[in-house]
Amino acid sequence: MEKVAFVTGGTSGIGKGIVKELLDKGCIVITCYHDNEKAAKEMKQEINNDNLIVKKCDVSNEEEVIKLFKLIKENYGKLDYLVNNAGTFIDSYIKDYNIADFKKVLDVNLIGKVICTKHSYKIMSHGGSIVNISSHLGIVPCLESAAYCAAAAAIINFTKATAIEYADKKIRVNSICPAFTPTLLSLKGWNKEEIDQKLKDTPLGRFAAPEDTSKLCMFLLSDDASFITGENIWINGGRLS
Ligand SMILES: NC(=O)c1ccc[n+]([C@@H]2O[C@H](COP(=O)([O-])OP(=O)(O)OC[C@H]3O[C@@H](n4cnc5c(N)ncnc54)[C@H](OP(=O)(O)O)[C@@H]3O)[C@@H](O)[C@H]2O)c1
Repeated sequence: MEKVAFVTGGTSGIGKGIVKELLDKGCIVITCYHDNEKAAKEMKQEINNDNLIVKKCDVSNEEEVIKLFKLIKENYGKLDYLVNNAGTFIDSYIKDYNIADFKKVLDVNLIGKVICTKHSYKIMSHGGSIVNISSHLGIVPCLESAAYCAAAAAIINFTKATAIEYADKKIRVNSICPAFTPTLLSLKGWNKEEIDQKLKDTPLGRFAAPEDTSKLCMFLLSDDASFITGENIWINGGRLS
């Protein structure tokens, strides 16, 4: 039977790139979105592949995630790959943070990954693979992004902790820290001047594209990476700041 993959937040940006790569490899791909139904419908139409299932599910809501895993189990009986990609961004200086916003970022970007990882274990095949999409900002700090930075940093070590535990089923768990990638999420987070500066600071002279992350993700999911677990890979075009 085909490999079965669940990619969270696959209706736009980096997640959409990962969904496309998995479909190209012949996988059955279940993905979810939060509230942009229009983008979800357009993405489904654009990709037009019977192996793609798109559902509305808030990854920070455990009940909704349980329902989605139940659907995966009932329809496919297994899960081979989990890509924890869904994320959000609400910027503010720490001294001005609305704590509800800070918690929302942690809920989606960190707890959402924890919930999906928790519920994947039982149905994931022996030898399955999990990739967590963290961020450049999990390694280097950035002004006005403390909640996002905190969640992204936590994901790197959550990945390592999960790798130790899930090794009993030979499930590998790795994370990726992409640098700035123009998407809906990142473009609303930065002004033109800040974006120009990021480009100047990137020795390879371009921004990351969703494909840079999706190709690395495919490698980490694949058997070619069968001895890699608990690892974090930073893709940054040489930008270390
Ligand atoms: N873009 C960058 O520069 C960059 C750099 C490093 C890391 N990342 C990480 O890459 C991941 C993808 O980001 P992106 O830039 O591709 O963003 P994006 O284009 O805005 O896509 C985000 C996706 O996540 C979904 N999502 C948001 N909140 C959700 C929730 N509570 N439950 C389920 N799905 C939810 C969105 O669905 P709706 O549209 O329906 O809300 C959408 O499908 C994130 O984890 C982000 O932190 C991005």
